[in-house]
Amino acid sequence: MAQQQTFLMVKPDAVQRGLIGEIVQRFERKGFRLVAGKLVRMTEQQAEFHYAEHKGKEFFGDLVSFITSGPVFAMVWEGDEIIALSRTLIGKTNVKEAAPGTIRGDFALHTNRNLIHGSDSPESAAREISNFFGTEELVRYERQIEQWL
Ligand code: PPS
Repeated sequence: MAQQQTFLMVKPDAVQRGLIGEIVQRFERKGFRLVAGKLVRMTEQQAEFHYAEHKGKEFFGDLVSFITSGPVFAMVWEGDEIIALSRTLIGKTNVKEAAPGTIRGDFALHTNRNLIHGSDSPESAAREISNFFGTEELVRYERQIEQWL
């Protein structure tokens, strides 16, 4: 299995709703390892870099103003196939398609308030991590539990 890192971000709506703990717990219980985390108020420049691939879409302005409207909880997580598996835990972007049991399926009512972001490829993960964290902030450590996952 391929060990990967991904960037996960609890969005302003989930921070305001007190869902940081609930969301972090889901990734911990799955068996993933937290590598870094911090509460951040994103700048407009940082938001435009994060969502650069969506520049030009009709919702881009709303997306940038939403993501900068309050603090986000930015995280780096590590684990086998974490990029695909974390997106399964998150659920589909369109909340009408997000299955019960997923974060969005359980807690999100609207697609433009969908609680959490997860990288969609190793390239996106590397770019998104570098937008929030220096390499010195990524903490590597061993856990006994690895052999049981
Ligand atoms: S696309 O067009 O399929 O590439 O877009 P998608 O990957 O589904 O979504 C890109 C990000 O924009 C968010 N999104 C929206 N924000 C506001 N309003 C609307 N209508 C909307 N639709 C999609 C979506 O949640 C994605 O953000 P992240 O942070 O990656 O989830």
